[in-house]
Amino acid sequence: MSSLPYSQSCENNKAAIAAVIEQCFSQASQVLEVGSGTGQHAVHFAKLMPHLIWQTSDQSIYHDGINAWLLAEPSINLRPPLTLDVTQAWPISQLEKPVIDGIFTANTLHIMSKAMVEEFFKGIGEHLALHGQLCIYGPFNYNGQYTSDSNRNFDLWLYEQNNQSAIRDIEWIIELANKQGMELITDHPMPANNRLLHFEKLSK
Ligand SMILES: C[S@@+](CC[C@H](N)C(=O)[O-])C[C@H]1O[C@@H](n2cnc3c(N)ncnc32)[C@H](O)[C@@H]1O
Repeated sequence: MSSLPYSQSCENNKAAIAAVIEQCFSQASQVLEVGSGTGQHAVHFAKLMPHLIWQTSDQSIYHDGINAWLLAEPSINLRPPLTLDVTQAWPISQLEKPVIDGIFTANTLHIMSKAMVEEFFKGIGEHLALHGQLCIYGPFNYNGQYTSDSNRNFDLWLYEQNNQSAIRDIEWIIELANKQGMELITDHPMPANNRLLHFEKLSK
């Protein structure tokens, strides 16, 4: 296991995330994960939701690591990563089923630039089915304010890594989602000052 890419935060947060998304995706048949990272979330969630296809994706540099996790912890409903950069066309033709009725992403919107976040939502507007569910996990600000000192410190650290990265305002995320026909169903508080935002696509 030591050669697998490893994120301690994924291990810490996967049970809490699963408890929420199992409900959100209870009717879904195919969930596309954007920015699968190490692949740890995917192997955990696919096992818990055997009724759906869990389709991993990320930029190609992450694929070897994701594939290593899929090999170590296979599930019949788990699919190897597609190359998906939100600034490019989404690889829709490579999906197993024609309909995406669930999209999951964790800890990505604060890594992406603002322009990339906008592209992410445009892609969802185009490809998520009507009544599809969108679940976004990560830290968010409210009215431009941090929700904790640890998030403030994290944001400073993000800026040092890349000055386009930043914790996003939840109001802006909701605005982008609304423009694509999605409504916020629930803003779930999560451990360690994170949130899980559950949206549903209510109009095209
Ligand atoms: C901090 S990692 C999170 C990985 C994983 N979801 C997790 O929770 O551990 C950020 C992820 O965002 C992805 N990402 C950044 N920019 C992206 C883009 N333009 N398109 C798609 N994914 C992107 C990275 O490739 C990476 O997988």
